[in-house]
Amino acid sequence: GSTLQAAASESGRYFGTAIAGHKLSDSQYTTIANREFNMVTAENEMKLDATEPNQNQFNFSAGDQIVSWARSNGKQVRGHTLAWHSQQPGWMQNMSGSALRNAMLNHVTQVATHYRGQIHSWDVVNEAFADGSSGARRDSNLQRTGNDWIEAAFRAARAADPNAKLCYNDYNTDNWSHAKTQAVYNMVRDFKARGVPIDCVGFQAHFNSGNPVPNNYHETLGNFAALGVDVQITELDIAGSGTSQAEQYRGIVQACLAVARCTGISVWGVRDSDSWRAGDTPLLFDGNGNKKAAYHYTLDAL
Ligand code: XIL
Repeated sequence: GSTLQAAASESGRYFGTAIAGHKLSDSQYTTIANREFNMVTAENEMKLDATEPNQNQFNFSAGDQIVSWARSNGKQVRGHTLAWHSQQPGWMQNMSGSALRNAMLNHVTQVATHYRGQIHSWDVVNEAFADGSSGARRDSNLQRTGNDWIEAAFRAARAADPNAKLCYNDYNTDNWSHAKTQAVYNMVRDFKARGVPIDCVGFQAHFNSGNPVPNNYHETLGNFAALGVDVQITELDIAGSGTSQAEQYRGIVQACLAVARCTGISVWGVRDSDSWRAGDTPLLFDGNGNKKAAYHYTLDAL
């Protein structure tokens, strides 16, 4: 294939990007996004603060704009994200206990219902585990409502949109030997054993020199897939430049292609200048929309 989406399609996979709604008026941005990608994730527009700014008053206008752009250009949509400790609206940040649990479940239900039938995969829960060696859940207002908050969110999402794939999504879960990776793995294994509805695990894949692409990435992806879930690279970006950066992108693609249930890869933005970490120049196109070495290595590896 001559584009990322065409090349990925040859093995039945998708290649996606995060889209920022306010950039859909930038023709260089939309030209690249439309040409190269066939999966779209709203970078911020479906998050809790965007979709429920006041309790029980939902605002889907920014998310709908992205879904509309995606659908009119023949692209699928990853939903991001229904339950997360971050980017919560102010009213939710100070809630606790059963009131928060009920508000979270209502949020999951209302948002998943609004987008029912239009979402390929939902990141139902994002970033619920702690960094470091503890293997523990991350402390958050949601976690303090009880350890079963994650499975409750998944059950609510399944009831609201039975055809969307339901994913758990996190970062620093790439290296198989890390405690956080093992902790997420154990949760997914437990969910599958008990019939909690989970279909996929998302690996954010934000890499830099302090968090490099692990040599055992294919092992991590393969071990999760063996639990009976799809795996997806959901927010890929790699700090760096030139051949070094390009080789790391190639390694990610090779790891995904080595695992039958690795169903797609999404990068977290189009051009370096669009990145949430623009100073790291972590994406496949430079700030002028030119293809970088990382683009060519990625395309060749697909
Ligand atoms: C980031 C966005 O890219 C930024 O625009 C925003 O200010 C903060 O969130 N993990 C996630 C994403 O799951 O939602 C985050 O996106 C990046 C880290």
